[in-house]
Amino acid sequence: MKFPFCCSSCSISASEITIDSTSRQGEQNDQNFRVFTYNELKTATHGFSASNKIGAGASGSVYKGWLRDGTIVAVKVLSIELESMRGEREFVSELSALSNIKHENLVTLRGCCIDGANRYLVYDYMENNSLAHRLLGKEQNRLKFSWETRRDISVGVARGLAYLHEEVEPHILHRDIKASNILLDQNLSPKVADFGLSRLLRDNRSHISTRVAGTVGYLAPEYAITGHLTRKSDIYSFGVLLLEIISGRPFVVFDLEQGEHYLVQKAWQLYNDNNLVRLVDPELDVNYPEAEAVQFLKVGLLCVQENVRLRPIMSTAVKMLTGEIDIRDVHISQPGFVSDLMDIKLVQQMLSQTISCSSGTTSQSTTSFY
Ligand SMILES: Nc1ncnc2c1ncn2[C@@H]1O[C@H](COP(=O)(O)OP(=O)(O)O)[C@@H](O)[C@H]1O
Ligand SMILES: [Mg+2]
Repeated sequence: MKFPFCCSSCSISASEITIDSTSRQGEQNDQNFRVFTYNELKTATHGFSASNKIGAGASGSVYKGWLRDGTIVAVKVLSIELESMRGEREFVSELSALSNIKHENLVTLRGCCIDGANRYLVYDYMENNSLAHRLLGKEQNRLKFSWETRRDISVGVARGLAYLHEEVEPHILHRDIKASNILLDQNLSPKVADFGLSRLLRDNRSHISTRVAGTVGYLAPEYAITGHLTRKSDIYSFGVLLLEIISGRPFVVFDLEQGEHYLVQKAWQLYNDNNLVRLVDPELDVNYPEAEAVQFLKVGLLCVQENVRLRPIMSTAVKMLTGEIDIRDVHISQPGFVSDLMDIKLVQQMLSQTISCSSGTTSQSTTSFY
């Protein structure tokens, strides 16, 4: 599919948004993809009214809308920062990644709209918003998630990621896997969303070097420090997400007496005490299979291993979750962990000093977190 516009106002080359559907394997999505007019989207969302606002993230607001044929959609309005061209970059990334792929565990992008300096993305509407909202959100928004639902969500997200990493060509790195970017449809089936930071792995490359972006707590330490992005960075974030799904706790909990508790650290401590089962969400009471829950938590810990080579690739993680690969006797080592921005900056400083001492050059990656 060729898009009839080019991104001349930012540093991204037009070729990056010229999406050729023949270059992609996997199921194509271009049958339904179309360019909307601004008026269509304005009418659909009742003038982007506050009452139709269903979400807000780093890049803008998302509105519920009704198309003329009755289809319900979600419309993301990207605000463009003139200096950094941030909204534009995200628009291009989402289009490059999503416009011609389709998978039951990825959100479907129905189309886009360019109106002057404004950019809009139109997706299928997901009735249950996000995992952040429904599992980890405010009391009044939360739903009760049975073991089976948590299992299906975990496996679904893993399958979506395996498809991005291993099946679709060029491979796609998501770069921002976290609970608010996992949408849930009316049956609580998960859809990986928000491809604003995603990157394509072209020419069989195994990594790309980028400006570090993502969410602290889900960021793989080696990527946070060096800007060296691989599929294993997404796998780290998936590991944190998996621990959240099974424990029902966010990656960090604040407590006045004890300060911050990090889920990855807690899981590692309980694993060493041979008591991982204590991490399972108390909401589940006794209504879950203990051995399977511990197996899921172990997969979570394997995905966040400090040693990148010990993290499974996504298709292996799927098999570990579904029991096709037995991990009862797998040895789990120390997880990697970055607690905050200060840690990253300190290590970056140390690294750049080491580099300048050994090679006479200073290479410091710009750290930018959304
Ligand atoms: N298709 C959708 N259906 C329902 N809610 C959505 C949809 N897309 C986004 N949202 C809501 O909007 C929020 C922000 O969307 P997201 O795509 O993650 O944008 P951002 O890049 O701003 O984080 C999501 O966390 C979710 O609550
Ligand atoms: Mg988001």
